[in-house]
Amino acid sequence: MSPLSIAHKYRWNHGVPRHEEVVLKVPHKVIHECLRCLSGQKDQVAELLEQTSEKLALPITTGWVRSWKKTLLVGNGFVCLQTTNARLTDEELRLLYCFLAKSIGNLNQRYGAFFDVKDYGLDHTKSAIPISKTRACSGFHTDSSAKHYSPEVVGLMCLQPASEGGDSLLANAANLYAWLDKHHRDCLQALSRPTKRDVITPGTTQTTDEICRNEFPIIAFPNEQLHFRYMRYWITTAYQKLQISLPAGLHAAMDCIDQYLANREHIFARALSRGEMLFLNNRYLCHSRTAFTDGPDPLPKRTFVRTWIDSVSSLPNRPSRSRVPRAVSAPVTARQPRDFQESGSCR
Ligand SMILES: [Fe+2]
Repeated sequence: MSPLSIAHKYRWNHGVPRHEEVVLKVPHKVIHECLRCLSGQKDQVAELLEQTSEKLALPITTGWVRSWKKTLLVGNGFVCLQTTNARLTDEELRLLYCFLAKSIGNLNQRYGAFFDVKDYGLDHTKSAIPISKTRACSGFHTDSSAKHYSPEVVGLMCLQPASEGGDSLLANAANLYAWLDKHHRDCLQALSRPTKRDVITPGTTQTTDEICRNEFPIIAFPNEQLHFRYMRYWITTAYQKLQISLPAGLHAAMDCIDQYLANREHIFARALSRGEMLFLNNRYLCHSRTAFTDGPDPLPKRTFVRTWIDSVSSLPNRPSRSRVPRAVSAPVTARQPRDFQESGSCR
């Protein structure tokens, strides 16, 4: 199969998806099932996050996730789940997000299964820290700059929107590839050659040797699948640290990518509200976040919770009936979510 034919499998065929196509309301019965597991015990969500997805599977939640999970692997490649009318606490939202994410696949622990994305007052232009710890515009990118790890799906839950800005943006690399093939075919060779990336994962050695070894293509087609791994900022800093110039044609090729991504007609944009959860394919979609401003103290700061999900296609869809989530089997005080009556309907 030619690269272009492979890319066609993943394209947004009718342009950027409309919000009504990708926004799903989390059913009350799903919220109800998940929140029944909330014990109120300290660190409960942290403990649940360490359990395997199979152990945690809840039948109603898993069944509902199964009804749309395929759209994360092909087609639109993302969903936005809404819980905004349920007025849940932070702890309840984290628990719900935990069960939904684990119904999609296995959570990667590299940064902890949940990683709070907020402005820590840091500056990524002064040290090699993830842009997710700043308030800057992230620029379009795919997550993880590590050669041997690229999450299949990225989850982002909004606990607190910014006072201003901080919109989530998505673009489809399959559409980008078709556009490049049509208008800038000469760029494709540079994008398919291994390209060095900076080493920014906490706990890794950030030596020039490590940066030199940390190289892989921006566009590849392993196993007849499109794999786009773009992060211009960390590509540029890698070559700066190595004090070598970019490979021939790479600068122009990345300019072409950025030209495509600068066109709002190619971009899905959404300002996530509190309780909204975005799950997106990290292999053929890239994402960005606009710069944001937080309100003055003591107003709450923009807080998103990120998770990286793997084994999305291989995880069994149907939970085994014999497996009961520990949170339910443990002697905990099962409780009703505040905004739901016994029937699960909203008050
Ligand atoms: Fe990201």
